Amino acid sequence: MISISNLTKTYNYKKSNAFTALTDISLTVDDGEMLVIIGKSGAGKSTLLHIIGCIDTFEKGEYTIDGVNVHKLSDRALAKLRSEKVGIVMQDFALVEEYSVIENVKIPLYFSKKKKGSANALALAALEKVGIKELAKKPVNKLSGGQKQRVAIARAIVNDPSFILADEPTGALDTKTSSEIMSLFKLLNDEGKTIIIITHDPEVAAVCKRQIEISDGRIKQDEEPTEE
Ligand SMILES: Nc1ncnc2c1ncn2[C@@H]1O[C@H](COP(=O)(O)OP(=O)(O)OP(=O)(O)O)[C@@H](O)[C@H]1O
Ligand SMILES: [Mg+2]
Repeated sequence: MISISNLTKTYNYKKSNAFTALTDISLTVDDGEMLVIIGKSGAGKSTLLHIIGCIDTFEKGEYTIDGVNVHKLSDRALAKLRSEKVGIVMQDFALVEEYSVIENVKIPLYFSKKKKGSANALALAALEKVGIKELAKKPVNKLSGGQKQRVAIARAIVNDPSFILADEPTGALDTKTSSEIMSLFKLLNDEGKTIIIITHDPEVAAVCKRQIEISDGRIKQDEEPTEE
């Protein structure tokens, strides 16, 4: 379970150009939930996702993952927690363009305890799950947007994390590819993964019951619409 209470994030903290991107955020996400974060550009969505994914820090408040206080961990312990629990699909994919598909998917395994010998098998299994196993050896810079998105998802799931965080995973995709990617997230959710997706797309948002709206760095709305 993810639990955030009264969290505030200020970029350039204590400097003249300090900017508070998140204010007094409180949020809990139970295991197995699938939810979307919506809100205008600059609202603080990516900032929140990066904090949830333990790749960014914060100044005030508390954040625990499965009862572990993230703020109190050493860098090493935090890296371990991140590698075990979190898979992130970044807004711009963040793939290594000149690497092949499988090399990209294997990246998180270098930081985990999983044996080197099994890295290929794990990466191929992740690629199979996202439906592009046959592209394993292709260079990433030769792929379409939808294929790159699948590579980014394969890389996020290769370590078998509990949480999958995705920043605008369908932002650059056509409607058909977008709904295929959403089906993939649904499948992962059905398998028990907790999924948090940032989106601007109402159709993507509609797939998830719980929608959290961020406005000017605050939670404006957090709702689970009642079934009709
Ligand atoms: N590294 C940084 N240093 C200073 N300010 C930043 C930094 N990163 C983001 N910001 C600011 O924090 C605010 C929130 O940014 P964030 O990227 O979280 O927005 P967002 O909701 O993800 O927007 P978008 O929908 O455009 O991706 C913005 O005003 C942005 O300019
Ligand atoms: Mg963003």
